[in-house]
Amino acid sequence: MKTASEYIVFPLDVSSEAEAATYVQQLCGCVGMFKVGLELFIRTGPPIVDAMKRAGARRIFLDLKLHDIPATVGRAMAAAADLGVDFVTVHCGESPRMLEAAVSGGGGRAGVLGVTVLTSVSPEEIAAAGFRRELSDDLNRLVMQRAAMARDTGCQGVVCSGLEVSAMKSAFGRDFLTVTPGIRPAWEGAGADDQRRVVTPAAAIAAGADYLVIGRPIRDASDPVRAAQRIAEEIHGAQG
Ligand code: C5P
Repeated sequence: MKTASEYIVFPLDVSSEAEAATYVQQLCGCVGMFKVGLELFIRTGPPIVDAMKRAGARRIFLDLKLHDIPATVGRAMAAAADLGVDFVTVHCGESPRMLEAAVSGGGGRAGVLGVTVLTSVSPEEIAAAGFRRELSDDLNRLVMQRAAMARDTGCQGVVCSGLEVSAMKSAFGRDFLTVTPGIRPAWEGAGADDQRRVVTPAAAIAAGADYLVIGRPIRDASDPVRAAQRIAEEIHGAQG
């Protein structure tokens, strides 16, 4: 069984290697994985992966959200896997062939996670993009349809809201991974931010989430290490 801290993924949403390394050194004992996103990757380049490992990161999630023709995505995924990362994201988009190419490019060396529908996208935007009414009226249907495409093409799992984890597990089984951002501890008491569909760490774990991406509740805490430990305690209490 995973330890409680192994569920926590801390996003390195910063713009320099020095800042990122400081977070890794501070938090590597109390979170399981670090996420490198587009900003940090573009500013620092692929060497950031080894730099974070040297700083103490045991596992890295490279959140590149790839979306291109199958051949390009396959080759990009192979290059990402060469960096020695644990997970890489790809948009589910409209083409199962692109996802198949991503999985084949990863070659089992990096887990491929499908991004279904970005949580920043509204039903109105989906309608304006020309989707059928039943999908724009109920974004969950579109999320589940794209998750099915991810599962059928061999992706290891999806990035989804904690509110969707139970439906994912019922539809696709326990082994299909769910990685959930939008986690807000009840004790955090922060003001409103851009996350909308939020759940607590305990609720995400109770629903069966495999990894919890938790940024600001740790980063903005007066004591980030203590915040991460407190979240791990909550996860431990919710583990079945
Ligand atoms: O916990 P916090 O809101 O600060 O986490 C922000 C992180 O979650 C960012 O790195 C963002 O890329 C990630 N995220 C994601 N998928 C979403 C929403 C946020 O990966 N649908």
